[in-house]
Amino acid sequence: MSPPEPMPIACPPMSEHEISDDPTRLDRAVVHGFLTTEAYWHRWRTPADIDAQIAGSWRVVGAYDRVTGAQVGFARAVSDGVALGYLADVFVVPAARGRGVGKALVRALVEEGAGAGMRWLLHTADAHDLYRSFGFQEPDATYLERPIRR
Ligand SMILES: CC(C)(COP(=O)(O)OP(=O)(O)OC[C@H]1O[C@@H](n2cnc3c(N)ncnc32)[C@H](O)[C@@H]1OP(=O)(O)O)[C@@H](O)C(=O)NCCC(=O)NCCS
Repeated sequence: MSPPEPMPIACPPMSEHEISDDPTRLDRAVVHGFLTTEAYWHRWRTPADIDAQIAGSWRVVGAYDRVTGAQVGFARAVSDGVALGYLADVFVVPAARGRGVGKALVRALVEEGAGAGMRWLLHTADAHDLYRSFGFQEPDATYLERPIRR
């Protein structure tokens, strides 16, 4: 399905960062750089793999420094656009962490626009409390998963 049109995203006016879901604004060097070298997950991906995942995503969001315009964070969602979304590749560059950027990225995808009413899934090694604050919980016994094979 085609991704939704970019939409205005609520962001505190005094925040030093802004959130945008315009995929053309992404700084691919920042996104490729983090996901291929610093992310603890799926570091095997090539820049071309990541570009393909961005192109296949339902929405992608970036966080940008209001002064310099530099991209400082990223997250993307895979979704059917109606009932189910998967949150992936959430990161904030080290220098911008601890100032609410991670929460703003998650909020933009799961609480704003069409995602607000969906069931959301994700994986995380250690950021459970970040996601719990948006209503994520450990799955119950009805959930099954086939792990990646590669
Ligand atoms: C996780 C990450 C995206 C958080 O970004 P951030 O901008 O520093 O986060 P925020 O400032 O919005 O705050 C995050 C909140 O979640 C909490 N939290 C829980 N687990 C956390 C974790 N592992 N890392 C960072 N914050 C965590 C923080 O304490 C904070 O809570 P508070 O608002 O009550 O103080 C960022 O640390 C990062 O990019 N880490 C490396 C990549 C990563 O682990 N991504 C998540 C994969 S699931």
